[in-house]
Amino acid sequence: MSKKRVFSGIQPTGNTHLGNYLGAIRNWAARQAEKENYFCIVDLHSLTVPQNPDELRYETRSMAAMLLACGLDPNQSTIFVQSHVQAHAEGCWLLNCITPLGWLQRMTQYKDKSAKQESVLTGLLDYPVLMAGDILFYDAHEVPVGEDQKQHVELARDIAQRFNALYETEFFVIPQPIIPAVGARVMGLDDATAKMSKSQADKRGHAIRILDDPKEIMHSFKRAVTDSGNEIAFSSDPEKAGVNNLLGIYKAVTGKDETAVLADFADARGYGDLKKRVAEVTIEMLTPIRERHDYLMQDPAELDRLMAVGAQHARSVSQPKVDDMKRIMGLVVP
Ligand code: AMP
Ligand code: TRP
Repeated sequence: MSKKRVFSGIQPTGNTHLGNYLGAIRNWAARQAEKENYFCIVDLHSLTVPQNPDELRYETRSMAAMLLACGLDPNQSTIFVQSHVQAHAEGCWLLNCITPLGWLQRMTQYKDKSAKQESVLTGLLDYPVLMAGDILFYDAHEVPVGEDQKQHVELARDIAQRFNALYETEFFVIPQPIIPAVGARVMGLDDATAKMSKSQADKRGHAIRILDDPKEIMHSFKRAVTDSGNEIAFSSDPEKAGVNNLLGIYKAVTGKDETAVLADFADARGYGDLKKRVAEVTIEMLTPIRERHDYLMQDPAELDRLMAVGAQHARSVSQPKVDDMKRIMGLVVP
């Protein structure tokens, strides 16, 4: 039986954090052998909000090093940079021309992000169409993402179905979002009612960044907002969101079930102990990743070479798909 195709992406905007790792990258690495994988550094998506060009260049290589450091294996997965493969931007235009504007205006991420900005770029609204193309041009069956991207994957399904219906074909595979059972939504340490996010990660105490040193990680956990009580328990009470988030992180990092997690804290003396132990297991998990990332960054030419190999393979899959799409839509393909 042929392997299921998997596609996922991550923006090279720096500040890659524990949520990105537990909600996405770790799961990509864990299931590589069972799947045919495409993992994309989505630099075009990053341009939907203003970027510093030198930083974006640096962060694109740093993300390549990060994905390798997290265990993605170029022999098992096609790892590439979105802008290296022209089919993405080209095919996005074609999809734009079958996607109703109202579908994009309804996206919650667009509504949140645009509310925070004075001037909203067209690209920000169009972001989910570019993402739909990423997925659809590879005939991906599965899209492993954190909870926040579920709506965008559902939109990709809607776009695929609309194209198939309009042109009376089964041209596009209808993709499935794959959301992990634990770690799908890691919350901010400074405010456990909002998700941990890259755009907030410069604020001290908000995020645990994968590249933070152990002292910083310990410090951020120690500052984590909890509550005035002392009960260490999983809870859906908004008052207890801080403790619940810390336990959720511990659960995701250790892979233990809730009973085993609570047993580990049976002898804890208050929230101080809880924070310290969550920090310790997190530091143990992230340290080898940071070290490997830093090691790989010493050889940017090798990173560029690996990305070039990935792009070449990605092109060989997506360009014929986009060419066929053009034919279906009535364009003359030379
Ligand atoms: P981004 O940082 O937006 O490029 O997201 C890359 C991946 O990380 C996506 O699959 C997101 O769903 C996932 N992700 C981002 N933030 C979180 C979070 N706080 N918890 C869990 N997953 C997340
Ligand atoms: N929009 C996703 C995010 O910010 C990244 C992304 C772009 C993606 N293209 C994708 C994820 C295709 C899955 C599939 O998290």
